[in-house]
This record gives sequence, C-alpha cells and structure tokens, in this order.
Amino acid sequence: MKIEICLGSVRFPFHLSTDALDELVERLLQLSASRYVIVCDSNVAPLYGKDIVNRLSGRAVADLLVHGAGEQHKNLQTVNDLMETALRSGTDRASVIVAVGGGVTGNIAGLMAALMFRGIRLVHVPTSLVAMLDSVYSLKQAINSGLGKNLIGTFYAPEEVLADTSVLRTLPRREMISGMCEVVKNALAIRPQMTDLLLNSLQPDSNYADEALRPIIVESLAAKKMVVADDEQECRAGMALEYGHTVGHALEYTALGALSHGEAVGLGMIVAAEVSHRLGHLDEGTLALHRDLLSRAGATCTVPAGIDLDEVAHRLRFDNKRGYLGLTGDAYAMVLLGAQGQPLWTDSRPLVEVPGALVREVLAELSTPEELVAPPSLMPTADNV
Ligand SMILES: NC(=O)c1ccc[n+]([C@@H]2O[C@H](COP(=O)([O-])OP(=O)(O)OC[C@H]3O[C@@H](n4cnc5c(N)ncnc54)[C@H](O)[C@@H]3O)[C@@H](O)[C@H]2O)c1
Repeated sequence: MKIEICLGSVRFPFHLSTDALDELVERLLQLSASRYVIVCDSNVAPLYGKDIVNRLSGRAVADLLVHGAGEQHKNLQTVNDLMETALRSGTDRASVIVAVGGGVTGNIAGLMAALMFRGIRLVHVPTSLVAMLDSVYSLKQAINSGLGKNLIGTFYAPEEVLADTSVLRTLPRREMISGMCEVVKNALAIRPQMTDLLLNSLQPDSNYADEALRPIIVESLAAKKMVVADDEQECRAGMALEYGHTVGHALEYTALGALSHGEAVGLGMIVAAEVSHRLGHLDEGTLALHRDLLSRAGATCTVPAGIDLDEVAHRLRFDNKRGYLGLTGDAYAMVLLGAQGQPLWTDSRPLVEVPGALVREVLAELSTPEELVAPPSLMPTADNV
C-alpha cells in the first residue's frame, strides 16, 4: 500500500507492507546511491540492520553505523560521532542515509542527513510503532540538549518511508504500548472517528496481529494528515499533535527510561484533560475516555513512584512551546481540549496558557505513593531488614 504524505508543499511516499524486506531493499537500490549508510541503534542493528546491509552488499556499497539504544543517546555527541565515521568511510553527496529503527534513530539519522554536505538523501525504515505512525510523518528532526528534549534540530524531509509491519513482531511490549499511546492521542485530540476502532482493537497485552495493526496505522496517518497537510512545521494546526507532550516530555526526561515516550505522553494527556476539566472546558465523559483508552492500550494511568516531581516542574520551564505564547509568570503553554477532537485555540494556535500551580497539583495527585508500588520482594521482611 502506498500512501502519499503531504506536509505543506512537501510530498513523499509512505510504503506500508508486511513480510516484504526484499521489496524494501529493491526500493532502496532504485535510489542508486553511491553508498547506503544504514543507521541503527544497538538493539535494531542485529535484528534488521545487518540483514539489510547483507541484502544490499554485492549490489551496492553499504555500511552499518550503530549508536547506543535509548533516549539518552539522542544528542549532539552521537550525531557528531556517526557523521565523523560516515565521512571517514567515504560518504559523499550522492550517498543515502537510511534510518532503520525507532524514533530515536529516525531523529539522529534525520539530523545527520540534514547536516552532511548541507543535506543528503534520507530514507526512513521505521521499526517501532511510534516511528511508523508518528515520527516519520514529520519534517522535525530534533535531538536533546542537556536542558531538555528536542531542543536542537531542524526540518528535513525524507525521500520516502519504507515501513514493514512484520518488524513490529520483535518490538517489546512496552514499546508497543508506547506507540499505542500516540494512537490514543490521535483519537482524543484530532480524529474522534477512530474511537470505535480503538475500543474494539486495543489489547492491554499488546498482542496484535498484522491485520489488526494495519488499520490502526492507516487511521493514525490520516489523523496526522488532518493537521499537518497545511502546516509542515507543526506550529499552527499541527500543534494538536503536541497534546500530552508538555508534561509528557518533562516526565520522560526526568524518568530516565522508567517511562517510555508514549506512556509519558499518555500521562501528560491525563494531566491536560484533568486540568481542562477543572478549568471548566472538558466534560467528565471525555476525561474518562482518556483513562479508558489508555488502560485498554495497557498504559499506566498513574505517575510511577520515584519520579522527582520538582525535577519535572523544573523541566516544564524549558518546554519548547513556551515561546509561542510569550509567557511571563507561573504558567505553561499547553494543548488543552474543549471536547474530543477540538483543541482550544489562542490566536492562530491550538495552545493555551495554563496556570503552573494547577498543572503541578494535578500531577502530584496522579503520583503513586512509594509504599503502594514497592514489589513484595522489596518490602522489608524479617530477613532483609
Ligand atoms: N516528529 C518527530 O520527529 C517525532 C515524533 C514522535 C516521536 N519522536 C521521537 O521519537 C522518540 C521515541 O521513539 P521510539 O519510541 O521509537 O523510541 P526508540 O527509537 O528508542 O525505540 C524504542 C526501543 O525499541 C527498540 N526497537 C525499535 N524497533 C524495534 C524492533 N522492531 N524490535 C525490537 N526492538 C526495537 C529500540 O532499540 C529502543 O530500545 C523520541 O525521542 C521522540 O522525541 C519524534
């Protein structure tokens, strides 16, 4: 299946298939690159990166460049190290960077492609659900700074996206849940007509057949199209995609791996919905739908114990949407819903100023007290005190 991705004036094809790695390699070869630079993280390299390099070898020059897995590696140091390696091994203007991996690899490789020779061709081969239905459908290529998530980056388009749902079979459950949280976001913030599909197909154990995943992916791409078709920089209507991300990014950054990106966004959506409800904008039923869909997806609806909420509050101050509303006092710029699929707008953006104290109050209420979550083995007993 070929879907045309439209981001303002930018267009590129998204090929969605299943069990078609041979076809994927043929499509890569059609680009006639002087060199294929396959970028993977250390988990995806042995699963798919080596295989793709082997399939290309003999017919083209292909290198495998591997970075550490995880959000903590999405930084300038990693991008610099990979670019140095790529340049040393002969990457030139006619080379193609192929991002084989999740959203972290997609952003790292995307930035490499944008920077090397002031821009060389990029192909996304998304291997996580987040990457497949979210991060590759975007021109945003950002990495983290020491102060917060996605603070350094640029806009850059791939030549094409080559997605194969069969790679999701090896995706850990936690990562599948992470992707499904972004799907839930699309249903809540943009496309209410997805709700029935999700109520019928979300699985808390994340055991999805390929046939079940395809409509979910297609619907999510349709949701993205609704808000980014005329907003390729995602700074007007496309900002609805940031639903849950203000608090979500701060939680994800503070949790240091204890929360996946999607689960952090899921919690961020619950906070946003609760805040909107208390401000008198959102009804009880839509608030309840947030928890219902996230629970069905297998996601947590409480902030895990051990996450330092003062640190989260500190990170919230560096959210990259602040500048849009010119905030001065104790306030955050957030996407809030007035109803399902209907964000509240300030001037030309679906973004509103929210009292900081209210956000922190709701966040604290969502937090699990430490003593409730300690697993039995860690509880003090006569033997281990
Ligand atoms: N517009 C955008 O650019 C955009 C949009 C959404 C998310 N993002 C970014 O994407 C990142 C999150 O993406 P993610 O959740 O894919 O994270 P990720 O890339 O870290 O992947 C999650 C984990 O799954 C593993 N993995 C990936 N594919 C696998 C497979 N098929 N089998 C086994 N393991 C596999 C990875 O090694 C990693 O450990 C964040 O940094 C976020 O900021 C960017």
